Amino acid sequence: LDTVKIAVLGCGTVGSQVVRLLAERGGDYAARCGAHVEVSGIAVRDIDAPRPDWIDRDKLTVDADALIDDADIVIELIGGIEPARTWVLRALRAGATVVTGNKALLASHGPELHDAARESGASLYFEAAVAGAVPVVYGLRESLAGDRVEGVLGIVNGTTNYILDQMATHGWSYDEALARAQELGYAEADPTADVDGLDAAAKCAILASLAFHTRVGIDDVAVEGVRSITPADIAAAKRAGGVIKLLAHARRVRTDEGEAVSVHVAPTLVSTANPLASVSGAFNAVVIDAEAAGRLMFYGQGAGGVQTASAVLSDVVAAATHIAHGGSAPRESAYESLPILPASQV
Ligand code: HSE
Repeated sequence: LDTVKIAVLGCGTVGSQVVRLLAERGGDYAARCGAHVEVSGIAVRDIDAPRPDWIDRDKLTVDADALIDDADIVIELIGGIEPARTWVLRALRAGATVVTGNKALLASHGPELHDAARESGASLYFEAAVAGAVPVVYGLRESLAGDRVEGVLGIVNGTTNYILDQMATHGWSYDEALARAQELGYAEADPTADVDGLDAAAKCAILASLAFHTRVGIDDVAVEGVRSITPADIAAAKRAGGVIKLLAHARRVRTDEGEAVSVHVAPTLVSTANPLASVSGAFNAVVIDAEAAGRLMFYGQGAGGVQTASAVLSDVVAAATHIAHGGSAPRESAYESLPILPASQV
């Protein structure tokens, strides 16, 4: 295969950066992958909407189906459930490789997508769905594939981390900090998902599914957001020698029946001696405890268009390399069946 054809679905904060980097770096990728990578088209809702000047308007289309049917790799960056779900399933069922950053879709319909990929032998890559540029999906899926993960603890939402950080260090109000996070491109289109902890819960579900080889959905995560955190809470945390962080926590627990997975997201008092306390701004950090590897820490920029585009492109290069060499790994493996504690019991 000389050319790997890429369909891009969505041209927002992340999608437009992916398109820019593919145009600028495509030449490097040809040598890395063993084939040329070429954007065959970009599916958007509104052809006439304003776009950055590097977007080739001739590539824009509203006909996502036709674009998908002609692609080797489909990059889904529209977010939300529909039409993303329908399009991703269409691509996977046709045997195309899908690269997505859609945490909400994975956390609510993950089993359906993974099953579709397994049935057709297609591959689903989703590094960009968790912690932006931080390679934590790869870390769990590949680097720790032979280990036994005991727990995953981290800061996986840049918007809330930025808000809590700015409130603590600059005395900004909650609203001021949220508005700035939106301007900087950290927040979701609807920032409710950020501040109510749902974005972190979706990422926690994805990380837990990878860590424990089981199927954790967003509804399994006990979740509390940051909306009710006041400047007085932040001052009290400071007096107690700590800071408030929105932490996502997934761990193996022992129950009367054996082992289970417990998953929750909540604002937590973190001692300043803990490395997670110094994770500032839109940075994310994930600490993983594994039986043989011990403790690992992943740290970097967890939100932002160009940072998240880096994660998308890592998947694109991996996928294009596999395709150019006649395969499509990662293969979808069958799940083990570790039970999940109901959110109400966490
Ligand atoms: N809204 C998300 C965040 C973007 O703030 O972390 C990255 O997923």
